[in-house]
Amino acid sequence: MDSSESDYSENFGKVHGILMYKDFLKYWDDVETFQAREDDVLIVTYPRSGTTWVSEIVDMIYKEGDDKKCREDAIFNRIPFLECRKEDALNGVKQLKLMASPRLVKTHLPPELLPVSFWEKNCKIIYVCRNAKDVAVSFYYFFKMVPVHPDPGTFSEFVEKFMNGLVPYGSWYKHAKSWWEKKNNSRMLFLYYEDLKEDIRKEVIKLIQFLGRKSSKELVDKIIQHTSFQEMKNNPSTNYTMLPDEMMNQKICSFIRKGISGDWKNHFTVALNEKFDVHYEQEMKGSTLKLRTEI
Ligand code: A3P
Repeated sequence: MDSSESDYSENFGKVHGILMYKDFLKYWDDVETFQAREDDVLIVTYPRSGTTWVSEIVDMIYKEGDDKKCREDAIFNRIPFLECRKEDALNGVKQLKLMASPRLVKTHLPPELLPVSFWEKNCKIIYVCRNAKDVAVSFYYFFKMVPVHPDPGTFSEFVEKFMNGLVPYGSWYKHAKSWWEKKNNSRMLFLYYEDLKEDIRKEVIKLIQFLGRKSSKELVDKIIQHTSFQEMKNNPSTNYTMLPDEMMNQKICSFIRKGISGDWKNHFTVALNEKFDVHYEQEMKGSTLKLRTEI
């Protein structure tokens, strides 16, 4: 079977109808029964939407602009990935259990799969949304570099899967729309990757205020400097080079890859773009969520 025919079902399992990494599913009970703490802060995204960028900004806020402290450990240890579970390596639930409060938690889960204790404890949630076209491009390269994924085939073959939600975490449209519906909750901050690209200072200040911390020009300057694309690309504690090639092969492509808005224009043909736009309209009909595909 070539990659255009496969539905990836051999490579991934499903949880409540959503495609998910098989390794993660083996211990899904641990995720469902996870015990949140009141002062946990969740950073939620659909994959490839700027999770790492915002995570580093939030950790810098928590560490009061001390970049040396942030550099002390890899980002996947400082901000554990809740549902991530490998046999003998990363285990988000275990890492979080052992962690002192306040904890920063990364997840890609849609709201319906989020452990209920996060709702019960009324935890603060930061959702970062990125336009679907750039997410599809970034996810395509992620498939190529992370060996747990099947061969994504050509870009247009991959986009077809993406449009049909046949990728881990399922439909981008459902994910974005259902988190958008939660945006009026005062414990939630809804951010856009495109806004971060356009005016990072404004978004950093928004984050500082949301987290109830004191803002100063010095703090904001330090955060902007430390979390710039180039800094994060060169920083071993943020660029995932601490992971072995078997888990993430950065010889194929860097985890922190291009960091721009509008790279989709270099990948979508006119025909694919037209098809995508029609499908997008259908999927997003009735939603007030509006994203910019260029800035
Ligand atoms: P590209 O593949 O388009 O370059 P996530 O952390 O959710 O996996 O998202 C990864 C995407 O965020 C990648 O997008 C990556 O390059 C981009 N990114 C990471 N750090 C960034 C930064 N400091 N500034 C801008 N983009 C960044």
